[in-house]
Amino acid sequence: MGSSPKIAIIYYSATGNVAHLAHNIALGAQSVGAQTRVLRVQETAPPEAISSNASWQNFTEHSTDDLARLEDLVWADGIAFGSPTRFGGPASQLKAFLDTTGSLWATGALANKVGTAFTSASTQHGGLESTILAINNIFYHWGTLIMPLGYPNEHVRKHSGNPYGASHFASSRNADDTSHVKAAFSQGERLAHVAAAFSRLEIS
Ligand SMILES: Cc1cc2nc3c(=O)[nH]c(=O)nc-3n(C[C@H](O)[C@H](O)[C@H](O)COP(=O)(O)O)c2cc1C
Repeated sequence: MGSSPKIAIIYYSATGNVAHLAHNIALGAQSVGAQTRVLRVQETAPPEAISSNASWQNFTEHSTDDLARLEDLVWADGIAFGSPTRFGGPASQLKAFLDTTGSLWATGALANKVGTAFTSASTQHGGLESTILAINNIFYHWGTLIMPLGYPNEHVRKHSGNPYGASHFASSRNADDTSHVKAAFSQGERLAHVAAAFSRLEIS
């Protein structure tokens, strides 16, 4: 790749599944020469909710990724947002961060960047696609160019099979299934390539 695209991967995760996807998207982007930032958004759930779930408490207490800032969005050529599926849509924690971006929207600072989305749910048909589509809605408002995962990668075409974006479902009966990891890696590679191409274009 000629230039080195800048990729921000910004996620919310309560129990670590989306964080795992986020880091594999970063690995994919890095594999084709991108600079990456993997960033989480602020936890907003009350302590009693977090402490009621050992996995949530464990992840929240041990997460070492930095918090996302608006300047990370400005820095990036390509942006990947991730959230667990919650009742068929993204978690409010991610939305809370997105709702702080009005000043960037007003100045067109995010127009012509490339955006993509990924998720994890408990079940295969529990709303993976509706979550990704809901996250993508924000890109329309920013003028950000939406990049689907699509099926260019043979692994995605034959195994993970979700063209909307990398998707993990926790109830998979096959504990050895790593198709979501490979899909995330592929999404990172693809985001880096597409963001590099668009960063060279002057579009008004
Ligand atoms: C409040 C809430 C709502 C959820 N809604 C859904 C849902 O609509 N469909 C689904 O399959 N899983 C649902 N889940 C399960 C999470 O999406 C799933 O556990 C996911 O892997 C969590 O990702 P994380 O480990 O990154 O937090 C829900 C979980 C919570 C806590």
